[in-house]
Amino acid sequence: MTRYLIAPALPSQPYPFNPPLKLGILASGSGSNMEAIARAIADGELNASIQALIYNNPEAGVAERAKRLDIPAVLLNHRVFESRETLDKHIIQTLQKYQVEWVIMAGWMRRVTQVLINAFPNRILNIHPSLLPSFPGMRAVEQALAAGVKLSGCTVHFVELAVDSGPIVIQAAVPVLPDDTPKTLQARIQVQEHRIFPAAIALAAAEAYSET
Ligand code: GAR
Repeated sequence: MTRYLIAPALPSQPYPFNPPLKLGILASGSGSNMEAIARAIADGELNASIQALIYNNPEAGVAERAKRLDIPAVLLNHRVFESRETLDKHIIQTLQKYQVEWVIMAGWMRRVTQVLINAFPNRILNIHPSLLPSFPGMRAVEQALAAGVKLSGCTVHFVELAVDSGPIVIQAAVPVLPDDTPKTLQARIQVQEHRIFPAAIALAAAEAYSET
């Protein structure tokens, strides 16, 4: 799998997937990454369709975005499921109902289990706001600031069981400025996230289909 150490040059032409990739988005937050993917599709930069959004937090801003973007949205509140595996089984059923082929974790703040991974082998991508393997887990931006690193960034990777682990597809680096706060650094990282996530989906799918 291709790895980049700095903000990569992204493909100028979309990969001509036929039929278009069928994406299912998992999100817990504001949904800016989902919207960036939707915009890349609308602009012809990513040959895909967002079949459905699954979100776990009733308050998440991503639900409003889905409504505005006309994306079917399903709330699966993790609090009502007895285990992570049970939640993942419901996620799988929902994704299958919407004929999803690729699972895109765009700010999904739940640990996934082997149940979900087995249902979509090598077809789950996650975005994380650090240069993995540095600073996995929660509050990655705060972790980077506390460590005093001068360079941070974001990573899109295939999902394996350990949190924020798995083969890296694309990374983009972002400088940490002396007066950065979590908010300012996160904002600069998100500019790069919105750029690399659609490209990473296309790259991962192009490589997956060229291997079959
Ligand atoms: C993104 O910055 C993403 O990297 C992070 O959540 C944010 C969601 O933003 N994900 C993680 O921390 C996963 N470990 P968004 O809701 O605006 O797309």
